[in-house]
Amino acid sequence: MTKHDTAAAAPPAPVTTLDIIGEAIADDPYPMLAELRGLGPVVWHEGYGSWLVTTDRAIRKVLTDQARFTVEGTVLEDLFGSNAFISTDDRHRHDSLRNVFAEAFRQASLDRLRPRIAAMLDDLLAPIVERLQDGESVNIDETLCRPLPARVIGALMGVEDEMLGDVMGWADGMVEGGSVYLDKQEAEKRMSVAENAKASLSAYLIGRMEYRRASPGDDLVSMLVSAEAARGIADEHLVENLRQLLFAGNETTAKWLANIFITYGEFPDVRRELVADPSLIMAANDEVMRWQNPIGTIMRKVRGGPVEMGGVTLAEGDAVSLVLTSGNRDPARYVDPDRFDIHRETKPNLGFGVGLHNCLGLMLAKVEAEVAVRGFLCRIPDYVIAAPCHYSPVPVRGPSPVTIALEG
Ligand code: HEM
Repeated sequence: MTKHDTAAAAPPAPVTTLDIIGEAIADDPYPMLAELRGLGPVVWHEGYGSWLVTTDRAIRKVLTDQARFTVEGTVLEDLFGSNAFISTDDRHRHDSLRNVFAEAFRQASLDRLRPRIAAMLDDLLAPIVERLQDGESVNIDETLCRPLPARVIGALMGVEDEMLGDVMGWADGMVEGGSVYLDKQEAEKRMSVAENAKASLSAYLIGRMEYRRASPGDDLVSMLVSAEAARGIADEHLVENLRQLLFAGNETTAKWLANIFITYGEFPDVRRELVADPSLIMAANDEVMRWQNPIGTIMRKVRGGPVEMGGVTLAEGDAVSLVLTSGNRDPARYVDPDRFDIHRETKPNLGFGVGLHNCLGLMLAKVEAEVAVRGFLCRIPDYVIAAPCHYSPVPVRGPSPVTIALEG
């Protein structure tokens, strides 16, 4: 029996088996996402066993209604741990722990961070510029897009330089197993990789917490161990709230930067506009986020009884997958949504989430991307994409390699 059959007296729900996260369509998922949106704002997926919410409006409705749609009990607990309260709790534990870090992510703190990010960028750019000038093609995914966010979040967390490689490897590894879309065998295999990564990261972070209790600094670990909100929470639980910051601040920003540099390579007129007027960079980066966003789906669960949405009835406990990548191309919100247009009417897109759980690091990521593009285009105003790239599929989507060469 399918979800479709169980929909009691309500009109039949649209049902799909479209594989929106398949490798085969990863380079261009947009025609399939348009087909999915055409089925309705809320569609049951037979294979994934969850509802897919497809339009900007319906996604915002779910994300701003904590009474009926919760993060609690979703796959996020498998990814980050059931005590990673910032991501996995909708109540006071979410607010109090999120507030511990809020100061570090405020505009004033980030403005102070700009020169440090610019220095990290200079360090990474120097060898890239040299190689390009020698006539080489350079994969800037490996040499810029990945290392920059790792260094920035590493610095914010106070990770020692010599540990950065291990720590970021564990942070990426811990989300290996968490896809709801994998078959059971594959999920189990990946889960064991993830569990090992989590254990290594926890052991390292518990050591840092002990160190920062004795010797406080101005990093996020010090903020957490000295916070009132952390009193009474065991270290092995607190650590989950640090672990999630490392993943959240790294892979996502790396993929956004990769999208940004591929896009400005593919649209030389836009790139020249940004070189001539760098004040456009923030808005242009936002348009890349709308057009090619890294976090393609996020999860919620129905709570508090059945809920009616988009003409269908969702049952208590049903899994709901919000397809941000579809919402960002919704023609009901954006004129000609498949066109990349840095001058389109300013409207917040879904790339950083919405509501209670919207991205804590949103301003950090924006500052990082702005500093990166400004510094990069100053030194490398003209470049071409020198090798084809392919995209990882929708849940965490981004291009690789990002191989560039000097123009001409
Ligand atoms: C381009 C880069 C980034 C993207 C696309 C991104 C995307 C997102 C999205 C879509 C959510 C909402 C998740 C949900 O509602 O279930 C989120 C939440 C979150 N992000 Fe980001 N993020 C980025 C960078 C960062 C950075 C740099 C950090 C900082 C360290 C960060 C930390 C977090 C945290 C802690 C949450 C959970 C917030 C909460 O549940 O209250 N993110 N992010």
